[in-house]
Amino acid sequence: MTGCPFAAAQEFRRHGKQFAPSALLARLGELRPAAPAGSALAAFLDCALDKPEGRFHNRTYLALAQLERIRDGLGISPDRFATLLVADIVRHEVRGPAGAERPDERTVRTRLRHCLRFVTGSAIDVEGEAVLAELPDPPASPWFATTVAPVSPLHDEYFFIRALQAHEQLFTALADDVEAATAALRAGEIAAALVRLDHAVATMDRAGVLFRIVATMQAATFHAFREHTQGASAIQSEQYKRFELACGPPTPARLRSDAFTSVPRVLADPPSDDLTSAYLDGTRSAPEASAVEIGALDERIAAIEAAHQRWKGAHHGIAARMLGDAHGSGYTAGVPYLRACLDNRLFRLLTVERAARAA
Ligand code: HEM
Repeated sequence: MTGCPFAAAQEFRRHGKQFAPSALLARLGELRPAAPAGSALAAFLDCALDKPEGRFHNRTYLALAQLERIRDGLGISPDRFATLLVADIVRHEVRGPAGAERPDERTVRTRLRHCLRFVTGSAIDVEGEAVLAELPDPPASPWFATTVAPVSPLHDEYFFIRALQAHEQLFTALADDVEAATAALRAGEIAAALVRLDHAVATMDRAGVLFRIVATMQAATFHAFREHTQGASAIQSEQYKRFELACGPPTPARLRSDAFTSVPRVLADPPSDDLTSAYLDGTRSAPEASAVEIGALDERIAAIEAAHQRWKGAHHGIAARMLGDAHGSGYTAGVPYLRACLDNRLFRLLTVERAARAA
């Protein structure tokens, strides 16, 4: 029984991390003392041993620390990295091992069509091995192959993990955009802020495409592996909450809810500024900002809000289809929780301010 991380990752993919032989896990445990802190091996072991060590959660299920290490080491932007992750779904569907319960060819074709649109930005009508020619090269790191550790041997868990990883990258880009736009506004560089906000709108719409990809999974398949993913939920996504806080302060009730108690690291280090505050301070204290500039900002902010509402609507739709009455893997009530979230607004304080101005 080998303890090599690359062979172990293959073993996880073949049988599911949940069903990994205890001898393999013990062997990986023996590698821990020799793994230098902060090394690729240490990051791999943190994910590989999360279940036996009782640390299984969203970050370890999705190998996020490993991916961030690879991304930053190669100097790739988060949105480009999202592209490479979805390109990997295509490679896996076309050339990867079939895995248990591979969906029918028609479903795979639909999945590939959505993935290729995400990767290339346009509709591509090619099939079979020919699609591989449309793909960018994979990240040049041997560790990339170890960043999918499904809990089951089911074929579809691979692409589900990659879609959620891509989501994390897109929300990293979104948070970066809104933070940069806030800094630009503070510096009086409205044109620069508008560029970042335009990119944020496009990125949010791109994030919506991930739901179309995930919608190609059967609810029964999802239920078959989710019984082993309890405790890992996207409600623990730090980048999603970082983006939310970068836009403006949530209501005190949301800050107290599972949405934020599930991200203790974000709560422990809240941002010192946000776009709502920068906008309000700028428009109240800098009368030199022209009506045209303020109008352009209003338009972009409304576009981000609308794109996020569309994102939440699509998420609610897919959860209703896949989950039904079941609770969420983050222990919320599930679909009723997501339905209530539809009423939240990223820029709620701007709506209040505008209503006050109009009165
Ligand atoms: C099978 C499909 C999916 C189902 C059934 C589902 C279900 C849920 C549920 C029930 C929650 C509430 C927290 C919990 O109890 O777990 C949640 C939260 C969340 N999900 Fe999904 N989800 C699905 C796919 C996705 C995908 C593909 C993404 C990203 C592209 C995503 C991103 C999120 C995020 C960011 C949250 C946190 C929302 C918040 O904090 O308000 N989900 N999901």
